[in-house]
Amino acid sequence: MSDTEDLRRAALAVRENAHAPYSGFHVGAAIRTTSGAVFLGCNVENVAYPEGTCAEAGAIAAMVAAGERRIAEAYVVAGSPDPVPPCGGCRQKLAEFAGGDVPVTLATVDGAERRTTVAALLPGAFGAAHMEGA
Ligand code: THU
Repeated sequence: MSDTEDLRRAALAVRENAHAPYSGFHVGAAIRTTSGAVFLGCNVENVAYPEGTCAEAGAIAAMVAAGERRIAEAYVVAGSPDPVPPCGGCRQKLAEFAGGDVPVTLATVDGAERRTTVAALLPGAFGAAHMEGA
């Protein structure tokens, strides 16, 4: 089984744990780091709506909590008709820990996939270099 298929299975499994009673939109995210470890996240909504967190943010938090920093591949799956693109905030969060060439697969539960990259998701990304000399 390929690394990407492993990520898909893991993302589908963690999506089952999503807490999304307000949107009804369940999302799972799986991240493989450069060490080969896999970290998972699902969306966690809150009755105070802005306090909810995305699946990608959860997976990134788990990665950082485990002492890892470098994303090699990411996979996001949702119960949408078409592969759902990450929100703007999650694109920036991914870019913090991933090079532009890192593959990101967006998928539906039914198996449709769109393969893209961090750079394609966030062209012209703000980065640490933009603060040099400030
Ligand atoms: N959501 C994610 O978890 N990741 C995405 O890439 C898109 C949106 C969540 C946030 C919220 O809980 C629900 O989907 C509806 O926006």
